[in-house]
This record gives sequence, structure tokens and C-alpha cells, in this order.
Amino acid sequence: MTIQWFPGHMAKARREVTEKLKLVDVIFELVDARIPLSSSNPMLEEIIHQKRRVIILNKADTADEKTTKEWIDYFAKKGLPAVAVNAQEGKGLFKIEQAAEKLMEEKFDRLRSKGMKPRAIRAMILGIPNVGKSTLINRLAKKNIARTGNKPGVTKAQQWIKVGKTLELLDTPGILWPKFEDQEIGYKLALTGAIKDDILQMEEIAGYGLRFLENHYPDRLQSWLKVETVSEDPIETLAFIAEKRGLLDRYNDPDYSRAAETVVREIRQQKLGRMSFDFPNWEDDSDE
Ligand code: G4P
Repeated sequence: MTIQWFPGHMAKARREVTEKLKLVDVIFELVDARIPLSSSNPMLEEIIHQKRRVIILNKADTADEKTTKEWIDYFAKKGLPAVAVNAQEGKGLFKIEQAAEKLMEEKFDRLRSKGMKPRAIRAMILGIPNVGKSTLINRLAKKNIARTGNKPGVTKAQQWIKVGKTLELLDTPGILWPKFEDQEIGYKLALTGAIKDDILQMEEIAGYGLRFLENHYPDRLQSWLKVETVSEDPIETLAFIAEKRGLLDRYNDPDYSRAAETVVREIRQQKLGRMSFDFPNWEDDSDE
């Protein structure tokens, strides 16, 4: 389910996150490993201020492994710990507690040196809809206590989930809005399934997807279509797919909209394999 983000929703979501921030030591920023930038909130740093943060690249099972490693190095260079996990199958989750412990190490060492026993690390999950927040909370809680659904404004008493030995996690995530001003980001969110109901733009999304594949994964595109060369014109490729799959209209012409749906669906279903849609830009040192 996607929700429309109007200014009122955004203000409310921000207010709710700001309230919860006061309760925690560490933020777990959940993003889709395939699109770590496009699935982040544009104002996250402004909203969380100086709060310690771990970036969790979720759905790592769907992303290009090599690119995910590059992202982890990229974030590390910016002083941001990042870990790759698969919340659905519960893989790599131990890295989350480890990263949080590392962030708090200095503070807790200081407490210990004064003879005080550090309390549990308190954390919350933050992210845009569909990045897997509920799935991760359920996994970490090992039972179904996290609520699914993305409606900002569903409030209830805060509960803490004990994770491992040192961590306590808020049972409700903070939900923020995606970057929707940039059309390319919108296409990437659609191709990874973060935005689902953009049926009207299906042909544009498929066209973007085909061009993206041509530029970044040409071999995959060729073997998916079982051809040696793929047209550079996405419209021609859509026509080719329509004919190949028998997606024709009543005049026996290619049904472009069903061909477009096929492209988007099969990219989302990983029929072309694991892929990343955002790549680190090592030249971008602007926020260092
Ligand atoms: P949210 O709370 O952030 O909104 O996300 P939620 O947990 O509801 O997860 C969104 C979708 O992503 C779910 O699919 C969920 O199963 C899937 N997902 C979560 N973590 C992972 C992961 O590590 N790997 C993979 N491959 N998928 C993951 P769904 O309910 O089936 O929805 P749909 O998007 O398939 O329709």
C-alpha cells in the first residue's frame, strides 16, 4: 500500500519521529539495498540531527552483491556504519546489534570507567514505506507484534522489544516520505516495488527500466529476451516483447501497456536476476 504524502502528512510524520527520537540512542535507517539513495528520506539528517545512525541495507538478497559492498565502503568513508541484511529470511541481523554496540562503545566505556553499569541501547527503525520495516521488527521480535501498514498517525503506547543482549527496539517504526520530486527516483522506486500503484505511468517506468538495463546490465537484457542485440529504442523493445509473448490487441498490434506491465513485473520479480539501481558516486564529496 502506498500513501499520498501531502504537506500535512509530512508534518505529522516528522512530528511523530521527533517525539520518538527523544526515547532512543540510535537510529536504524532502513533503506532498500538496491536503491540506498533513492529509498532514503530527503530530510533525514535534518530530522534526526546529530543522533547516532546505522544504515541498514535491507532486501540485500535482491541487490547486486558487488554494488552492495561498494555502498557499505562508501558509507564507511562518510563515517556512517552500514550493514546489509535480508529481513525476510532473517539473514545478517546479528550485524545490527553489533553496529549499535560499536556506536555506543565510547559512551558506555566512559560510564564503566566511572563505575556505572550501562543500560540497554535503545533504538528505533526509520524509513520510507515498503523498505521492510515491519518485516524487520517482526524478525527481530521473533513474533508478530509489529503492525503492518504505513499510515502515519496510528499511535499507541510505545513498547520495547528486546533484541540480543544489549539492544531494545521500539516496536513501531518511524515512517518518512520518499524523495518524489525527481522523476528518475520515482522510476527506481516503482521498479523496486516501493511504489506500486503508478499504473498510469507504466510505459514510462518500463521505458526507463529498459534503458537502465541497456546501460548497466546489457547481458541480462539480452539473455532475458533471448536475442543478440536489443534495440536502443524502448518502444521497439516493448513491441518486440509484446509479439514474443503474444500480447496483442484486437487488431493484432502490440499491446504496449501489457508489455510494459510485463517488463516492470519481471524486473520486480527478479526474473533478470539481482540488480542494483543506485550506484555510489565516489566523486561526490560534497557533504564531507
Ligand atoms: P514497511 O513496513 O517498511 O512498509 O515494509 P514491509 O515490512 O511491509 O515489507 C514490504 C515488502 O518487502 C513485503 O513484501 C516484505 O515481505 C518485503 N521484504 C521485506 N524485507 C525483505 C527482504 O529482506 N528481502 C525481500 N526480498 N523482501 C523483503 P510483501 O508483503 O509480499 O509485499 P509485496 O511488496 O511483495 O507486495
